Parts: sequence; C-alpha cells; structure tokens
Amino acid sequence: MSWITQSSLNWFQRCCIKLLKCGPIPKHVAFIMDGNRRYAKKNNVKKIDGHTKGFHKLSETLQWCLDLGIEEVTVYAFSIENFKRSEEEVDALLELARQKFQRLLDECDKLMEKGVRIRVIGNWSLLPENIVKMISEAELRTKDNTNCYLNVAFAYTARDEVTHAVRTIVNGVSEGLLEEQDITSELLSHCFYTGSSPEPDLLIRTSGETRLSDFLLWQVSYSYLYFTDVLWPDFTAWDLISAVFHYQHSYSKLQYAKEQQKLRQNYEIDTNLVDFNRIGITKNAENFLRVVDNRYWEAVRKNLVS
Ligand code: FPP
Ligand code: MG
Repeated sequence: MSWITQSSLNWFQRCCIKLLKCGPIPKHVAFIMDGNRRYAKKNNVKKIDGHTKGFHKLSETLQWCLDLGIEEVTVYAFSIENFKRSEEEVDALLELARQKFQRLLDECDKLMEKGVRIRVIGNWSLLPENIVKMISEAELRTKDNTNCYLNVAFAYTARDEVTHAVRTIVNGVSEGLLEEQDITSELLSHCFYTGSSPEPDLLIRTSGETRLSDFLLWQVSYSYLYFTDVLWPDFTAWDLISAVFHYQHSYSKLQYAKEQQKLRQNYEIDTNLVDFNRIGITKNAENFLRVVDNRYWEAVRKNLVS
C-alpha cells in the first residue's frame, strides 16, 4: 500500500468536516500510533501484520488530515526504546520501514505534485545504512516543498533529541561560534530534530495509554492532548473528527494559556528578571543556526554517495 491514497470519507463525514472547518483547524497534529500488537492479538494475526495494518492506517489518516486542511503531521513510527523488542520484531519493523521508504521514493512525483515535504526526525546513527540512504534521498528531493509537511519520528525519543541539541550547542561554543549569552530556550528548541517546525496544536494517542512515552516532550507543553481507547489500526475518520472537535471546544482555553505564557515572558523582560536575549535568538545564534543547517544538508548529501 502506498503513502498516498484516495480519500475514503463518506458524505456524512465530509459534511462534518465542512462544519468543523468553520472553526479553528489545528495546523500541526502529532500522532502516537499505539496498539498494533494488541490489534494483531485480537485478530489472531502475526505482530508484523498488525504493524503493516498500522502503516495502512497511517496513509489513510494522512489523507484525512489533508481533507481537513491540516498542514503538518508528525508521527511516532519507531522509538529508540523499540530497539529493545525481540530481534525478530525489530528486524521485521525495519524491513517494513525499508519497503515503505522505498515506496515513498517511488511515488515522489506525487509528493512533489502535492507539495509535501518529508522529514525523518530521530537519531540516524542508530539506523541501517540502506534506510539512511533512502531517508536522505526523500528529504533532499522534497526539501523545497512548502504546502504541507510530514515528519516521521524514527529512532526517536525526546530525551535523545534534547541531548543532541545540547551537544550541538556545546560544539558551537567550543568552536567559538556561540557565547554564553547566545544560549536561550529558543536556540535550544531550534537545535531539536524538529528544528523550526511549529509546535503541534493537537496530539492524538490511541490504544488507551495516557502517557507521552518520550515523544515531543518539550514541543507539546501547550498542545491539546487527546487520548482514545481505539487501537491504531482501528482508528477511523470519526476518531480524527472527534479529536478536532474536542480541540475546538478547548481552543479558547489553549489560546489563553499560550498568551499567558507570552505575557509571563514579557513581564520577565520588563522587570529585568531576564534579559531579552535569554528568550529570543541573538544575531550570533542566527548565524550559528545557518552553519548547523548547512552542515546538516552536507551530511545528508554525503549519505547518498557513501
Ligand atoms: C505501536 O504499537 C506501534 C509501533 C511501535 C510501530 C508503528 C509503526 C507503524 C504504524 C508503521 C509505520 C511505518 C513507517 C515506515 C512510517 P505497539 O507495537 O506498541 O502495539 P501494542 O501497544 O499493542 O503493544
Ligand atoms: Mg505500545
């Protein structure tokens, strides 16, 4: 099954989406796609068949997100913790990923047509070389697309992301590109794998678990968190519609919380509790981020020839 499918909405779901579109639609939605193995057990099939079903659900969901006008989607496809599963399951999951990333490259023309940019966020050094090559190619080919964004978290945990960002900054200091006063929370978040991507407005987790499992810990502080009991392969357009409906219901409270946070920052600046430079991005940091970005793309290009 491909990453891009035909819309599978029925007329009633289309009507509901039209109504939802009268309200605020989240720009960025993150998914913790959980429950594939329980689905497999429930349906008496192999674990890997549950994961394959999970991938099918992902491609269906991406189309529903496009139908809703959601511009950016981030999915938790493989946690660093998942490497601790049995060798058989890890190998099968990596093989599934290999097939699906190859498929993504095969249908790159369709992604270009729709203006989709693909990013794979995570610790690439933990991945097999052939997968690194594929994701490098996918990122390079779609790098200038700006219509919508798909971020696949693969070999990802938020703790690893923070560690990576701190290392990037420490290297910047030792190379003389950064000084102590350039280190701000803003700079740190720009050094994350998610880079300059806006924070998710809505996070959806399936399968009844109500925790974040080391996913986007920093980025979802002000997001609406929606937990549902449905197992990921059983997720339907109704579940997505319901999540967006609940998000809209809480929208004014969410906006208020975000504004309060901005006011607190401004208060801290006004009362000299904190220097402006502790919050924003300094000129020096801006130049540093440019260097980091250039180095990133250099490394991605190198992956293709090695
Ligand atoms: C969580 O269910 C799901 C995963 C660990 C894998 C998710 C992967 C996909 C949906 C396929 C995506 C593939 C690509 C290439 C993007 P679980 O295994 O934790 O199930 P359980 O909670 O029932 O044990
Ligand atoms: Mg699970």
